[in-house]
Amino acid sequence: MDKFKIRGGTPLRGELPVSGSKNSALPALAACLLTEQPMTLYGIPDVKDISTMQSLLKYTGAEVGQEDGAVRIHAKSLDRPEAPYDVVKTMRASSLVLGPLVARTGRARVSMPGGCAIGARPINMHVSALEELGASIEQAYGYVEAQAPKGLRGAMIHFDRISVTGTEDVLMAAVLAEGETIIRNAAREPEVKDLADLLIKMGAKIEGAGTSIVRITGVKRLHGAEHTIIPDRIEAGTFLLAGAITGGDVTVTGCNPEHVAGLVVKMRQAGAEIEELGSGSLWVRCSQRPKAIDVTTEEYPGFATDLQAQYMAWMSIAQGISLVTETIFENRFMHTQELARMGANIRIEGRQAIIAGEAELTGAQVIASDLRASASLVLAALVARGESTIDRVYHIDRGYERIEEKLATAGANIQRIE
Ligand code: EPZ
Repeated sequence: MDKFKIRGGTPLRGELPVSGSKNSALPALAACLLTEQPMTLYGIPDVKDISTMQSLLKYTGAEVGQEDGAVRIHAKSLDRPEAPYDVVKTMRASSLVLGPLVARTGRARVSMPGGCAIGARPINMHVSALEELGASIEQAYGYVEAQAPKGLRGAMIHFDRISVTGTEDVLMAAVLAEGETIIRNAAREPEVKDLADLLIKMGAKIEGAGTSIVRITGVKRLHGAEHTIIPDRIEAGTFLLAGAITGGDVTVTGCNPEHVAGLVVKMRQAGAEIEELGSGSLWVRCSQRPKAIDVTTEEYPGFATDLQAQYMAWMSIAQGISLVTETIFENRFMHTQELARMGANIRIEGRQAIIAGEAELTGAQVIASDLRASASLVLAALVARGESTIDRVYHIDRGYERIEEKLATAGANIQRIE
């Protein structure tokens, strides 16, 4: 099991390039199931979750290939519209094939995701939305079995709470349903808008993607298309925080500044200097300890829950006491115990973390618990005095493309130990 060994104290300097968005690539790959024609996707990041999704598409019968930075998917015939437990248990986002498989083949058998480190994360809203669209659903033996032999029909779908992949699943089912579908209380994340842009290139009729109300007029079939995935806003935010926490001078390149605006506002309030340099580059410098600034995670365009752990690492060295409130997941503070081993002073009260900033953190042996928690531990280790080792870095490999190489290029003292 790989580990990272990090010696803290070096301010990062230079460029940190951002890869394509994992959370945009996953639904885009699932959308390739909706047509029997070949699809080409560019900007797909080389991370574990993507290879998991590609093997899942192969399992259903699609041809999957890669060549010079492009991913080619050809779902000519899907003879096994299923997502088996041993795939779903490693990646919850496998539920994204549920909508496309039902829409394309009239049936799907998808394992229900097990528990997850950050919360229960059920898919009940995905299932009830598909029932609204006319699928008959049975949940037994740990699987969701969906049938729609006569196809799906448009409906009014209301999400009790905002769900990113719930919205994406329904979007991919509705584009082939007969008639009009309206999704109310839809997720507004950039990844949802990117998926809709891809579906429209395939011939879908969608209005309002990226807002809370999305209208879809079903079509008989979709054709092949090419699409470039948007940059990863969570990686961009993680790199901005890496530049700030190390007291460095960093340019994050290949990002979309609009997608990290919520974080940038907070970082400026805390004392970081951040400038847009144009053509997808953001410059950050922070030569003193940050001021303690509270954040509350909210759905986009609010402060991203996927940046909460990384932000908390920065607040661990702030001047003053900050309050971090996590409103999306019920158990997304697993990183605080590990940060505490590095000297962070954090108290958890339900959905809130109270962080009393310390002048200094010290290196320690810590264990990653989930993808973004591991990013938070890397950031803390980069500023801590002395050496840290981070175990179970397979978590970080799920969503960051060779993060240690990118950070080392900017001067970080970090090695991967096989
Ligand atoms: C997506 O997960 C992201 N994953 C997550 O990123 C991200 O943290 C999350 O959205 C919130 O922004 C992908 O896009 C692949 P939700 P998703 O459905 O869609 C509850 C990362 O680090 N809920 O928006 O699974 C759920 O439990 C990952 O890259 C139900 O109760 O999240 C949560 O509390 C982590 N029933 C809330 O809604 C449902 O049917 C929001 O979840 C669906 C969700």
